[in-house]
Amino acid sequence: MNKSLRGLCALLLLCTTAFASAEDKTFLIKFSHVVADDTPKGQGALMFKKLVEERLAGQVAVEIYPNSTLHGDADEMQALLDGKVQMLAPSLAKFSQYAPQLQVFDLPFLFDDLDAVNRFQKGAKGRQLLSSMEKQDIAGLAYWHNGMKQLTAKRTLQQPADAKGLSFRIQASSVIESQFTQLGATPVKLPFAATTEALRSGTVQGTENTWSNIQSQGYAQYLTHATQSDHGVLDYMLVTNSRFWYSMPHSVRMELEAIIDEVTYAVNKAADRQNQNDRAQLQAAGMQITELDAAARNAWRDAMRPVWQQNEQLIGADVIRAAERANRRH
Ligand code: LMR
Repeated sequence: MNKSLRGLCALLLLCTTAFASAEDKTFLIKFSHVVADDTPKGQGALMFKKLVEERLAGQVAVEIYPNSTLHGDADEMQALLDGKVQMLAPSLAKFSQYAPQLQVFDLPFLFDDLDAVNRFQKGAKGRQLLSSMEKQDIAGLAYWHNGMKQLTAKRTLQQPADAKGLSFRIQASSVIESQFTQLGATPVKLPFAATTEALRSGTVQGTENTWSNIQSQGYAQYLTHATQSDHGVLDYMLVTNSRFWYSMPHSVRMELEAIIDEVTYAVNKAADRQNQNDRAQLQAAGMQITELDAAARNAWRDAMRPVWQQNEQLIGADVIRAAERANRRH
């Protein structure tokens, strides 16, 4: 055998071995998140695990770590980049360091409702944002809904001025920070897992979150009032480490992507119902829920609206316009 033929044979053997080992291997997906099982994201993670176990047994195994038990807001993205976990679904507010454009989702009173959010996520800009972190090895696999955010506090928040002087726990987003500053309130960036303790100790006297998070975290123990403001959205991006993702055989990835489509459909269909159930439970347990008439809602909108202008350069005017257009049903 001449030298170049020997070289070719060695290369072929190497490729076959590498291919065979990827085919034989069981890939472990550690999926870490910060919320309870009984929430849209918690349910989505469990459904993903169940379908993978049914359809990819022996090829892929999934471990779910809810409630910040493995990693929390402060370190989960680094854990993904370091290969310590393979899947996360942080809220869109938590990607600001990696893709500032994603803070479009934090702009107050941008989306009329979840249908508009859906249209934006499915449109060209929304899909483009899913792949906006590829250079950083973060691949966006899907958007999952939680729902619209509501204000909760120790007192009634009927008018924007009622929020003045209160400290609100917020997610680590500069857009949300300016939203509360605009109200004359004090925004306090805290990891999700630290919020209940901050409410208990009185460090913060209010929050903004979805009904499902308010209910599952027991905020009503400390915050007796909620305002149905629907002033913003709290959704997720299901992400993986692209180096990990592309280390799996093509056929496995195809099956995982089909499973993710199925889970995404189920999560997004059930999220609003879950939030409405949680709202009803909170109300039944005695939480005072203030609904806003058109004039009061406009007052909140006007008070928060300067945040758009302040963040237009950071997010991109084109992204904001595309999101606004999603409010129109064609
Ligand atoms: C929050 O920090 O309030 C949320 O992002 C938690 C979550 O994942 O829903």
